[in-house]
Amino acid sequence: MERWNSRAYDSSFGYVSTQGAPLVDLLDPQPGERVLDLGCGTGVLTAQIAFRGAEVLGIDGSAGMIEKALAQYPGINFIVGDGHDFTVARPYDAAFSNAALHWMSRDPAAVVGSVREALVPGGRFVAEMGGAGNCAELTTAMLTAWREYGLREPELPWYFPTPADYARLLEREGFLVRLLEYFDRPTPLDECPGGAADWVRVFAASALEGLPPDLVEPLLQRVNELAAPALRRETGWMADYVRLRFAAVRR
Ligand SMILES: C[S@@+](CC[C@H](N)C(=O)[O-])C[C@H]1O[C@@H](n2cnc3c(N)ncnc32)[C@H](O)[C@@H]1O
Repeated sequence: MERWNSRAYDSSFGYVSTQGAPLVDLLDPQPGERVLDLGCGTGVLTAQIAFRGAEVLGIDGSAGMIEKALAQYPGINFIVGDGHDFTVARPYDAAFSNAALHWMSRDPAAVVGSVREALVPGGRFVAEMGGAGNCAELTTAMLTAWREYGLREPELPWYFPTPADYARLLEREGFLVRLLEYFDRPTPLDECPGGAADWVRVFAASALEGLPPDLVEPLLQRVNELAAPALRRETGWMADYVRLRFAAVRR
């Protein structure tokens, strides 16, 4: 599964991990603690956790991301693994995840169950992900453009749960929810001169697979036209992000 361009990711979409820094504060990793970073990407936040003295393992489904993480942070452990069914040799004190759980959409209960099995009783699970309504303007523009071009609507790869649904899932899978926030985070797409079209290219690339190549540009320009009234400001494009942030404890 290589849905990610890891080189473009750090240079153009560094805001994903920049915005994740307060989440590291919420995790509050302690020196010597064993922490797992699930969907670690190129390892920027994994390194911040390690910097606080914790012993971290970064796991990501993309070999390209892990290769880059290993090159950037040679002192940290990173492995390729799928959030749905990874196992660890010895349980961890805490699991952390930024902007990744919504990509693990095949079976979210299996993901939460794998995290539970990787934690000691009392272990913390601190994460942020897209919540219900995340990128609704962007995805509506996409689906409309696809329809207008007579294409079958693409299957969008994400899982954006409501707070109630995710709290229920966490409880059912053996966690106590200590904190759950659900908030809008309009995010400037500073590094997307091509606007919503650029966002689709990086984050919804799977929707472009198999399309006739000469259709892609006009289709993406139509996405821009449709999304512009809601998302284009004088200062540039904004993405209509909605986030779920939680801290839970394994029972
Ligand atoms: C938006 S990036 C976030 C990366 C990093 N946590 C950060 O804050 O910069 C999402 C990451 O989730 C990973 N991912 C997606 N599906 C996954 C899965 N099933 N198992 C493990 N990682 C997955 C992707 O490869 C990607 O690196």
